Amino acid sequence: MNADEALKFVEELLSEKGKRLNDLQRILFKGAWNGRTTKEIYRECANRCGFDHFNQNVGPELWKLLSDVVGVKVSKRGLQGPVEGAWETRSQHKWSDSPNDEESLPFDGYLKDALEAGLLWDEPKPLRESLDKMPEVPLVFGRDKDLEQLQERIFLNNYRLINVFGIPGTGKTILAAKLAHEVKKHFDYFIWRSLERPPALQTLIADLVQFFSNGTETSTDLSRLLHYLRNQSCLVVLDGLESVLRGGVHNGAYQEGYEDYSEFLKEIGQTAYQSRIVITSWEKPKEIARMEGENQGVFALKLEGLGELAAREFLTAKGAFSCAEGDWRSIARRYAGNPFALNEIATNVREVFGGDVTNFLEQLQHGTALFEDIRSLLDRQFNRLSDLERAIVECLVTGHEPLTIPEILQSLPCPVSSVEVQEVLQSLLRRSLIEGSARYSLQTLMTEYITYRSR
Ligand SMILES: Nc1ncnc2c1ncn2[C@@H]1O[C@H](COP(=O)(O)OP(=O)(O)O)[C@@H](O)[C@H]1O
Ligand SMILES: [Mg+2]
Repeated sequence: MNADEALKFVEELLSEKGKRLNDLQRILFKGAWNGRTTKEIYRECANRCGFDHFNQNVGPELWKLLSDVVGVKVSKRGLQGPVEGAWETRSQHKWSDSPNDEESLPFDGYLKDALEAGLLWDEPKPLRESLDKMPEVPLVFGRDKDLEQLQERIFLNNYRLINVFGIPGTGKTILAAKLAHEVKKHFDYFIWRSLERPPALQTLIADLVQFFSNGTETSTDLSRLLHYLRNQSCLVVLDGLESVLRGGVHNGAYQEGYEDYSEFLKEIGQTAYQSRIVITSWEKPKEIARMEGENQGVFALKLEGLGELAAREFLTAKGAFSCAEGDWRSIARRYAGNPFALNEIATNVREVFGGDVTNFLEQLQHGTALFEDIRSLLDRQFNRLSDLERAIVECLVTGHEPLTIPEILQSLPCPVSSVEVQEVLQSLLRRSLIEGSARYSLQTLMTEYITYRSR
């Protein structure tokens, strides 16, 4: 049987089940039949998809489809045996009239023996994981689109370095955990590290190298880490990079002793490898902002709060609430769908207002309701701002409407150049505290927070 005959045969089997192969799967089938390596076969695909997608999705899906129709497990190296076996069985049965009938599935003794002897296919490698403080993945509301976008970036568009940034409490950590949970099966190694108490860069590198080398190597050398990222398929999540970034100045500076993280980000953003790195942070690091534009491998997702529907599901899941239709909307908008803030509100409404949201909102008309935990989280974000950033934030809150750069210049108490204002706006955008392009306004939850502060 040659590759074309075999392909024709399996396509017939598939079509009996109402299934068909796509072009990439046909190319892979023929290449594998002829014993070529995955890389060689991939070259024939003329960049119609990324290599990782080809390797991690196209291949496994094809082997699964074939295993289903042939009746035994098929893999790249165990392809000819099962297909030829199925063909012989089919010939003996003279093409059964009832292909969907279980009994008509080709499965002869030779294949069974080979399967048991482990001759025909490789078992998938078990995933090695090291999870540190990765949170449990609870019910996650309203993040389907974000997850879909991230998966597409990771597998289809070949982005290697992904940054999820957004103000505290938006759900970055939980989104990264959910993402990892869903995609880790496509990798051989998965490591999650929280940077809440940030390790020195060398400690982090040593930790990663030790894990990827299965404990056989200890090195603080970045090139060794890149070696493993290139040669193995690893998923790395670094959660909470803000801890190494410095406050009190515009976005982008590093805490003392952590300056080398800047070089680290540049290296992992510019080097080509098959692994994937996901970093969450309150603000988009300047290195990532720079590479994002010019480098196809780097992608940053600004995570927004939950939409109205998801905020409603989130709140209802926290307890039984009586609530008029418009009330959900007011709460979701006022707190910018921030799950951390919403959770505190849910607790307060349940404990203080007996679950009556309308009553809670009536009280809210007389002031703001920001509870302690979200306040202290936002305090930490606010305290990072430089003096000029704070002055501009105050301008935006008193302006009530989105302001242009000339309007901001006019309302600042001290003279500042237009270039300086532009720099600060860029910094505030990267810190996700303001929104807009020609006209800028403060992020809703921040408005609530600043109003609360100035009471
Ligand atoms: N989409 C969501 N669905 C359910 N709970 C969420 C969602 N997003 C966040 N949370 C919860 O809100 C809290 C804050 O989320 P977290 O991921 O820690 O925020 P961040 O990392 O952005 O500061 C956590 O308790 C988390 O479980
Ligand atoms: Mg977090």
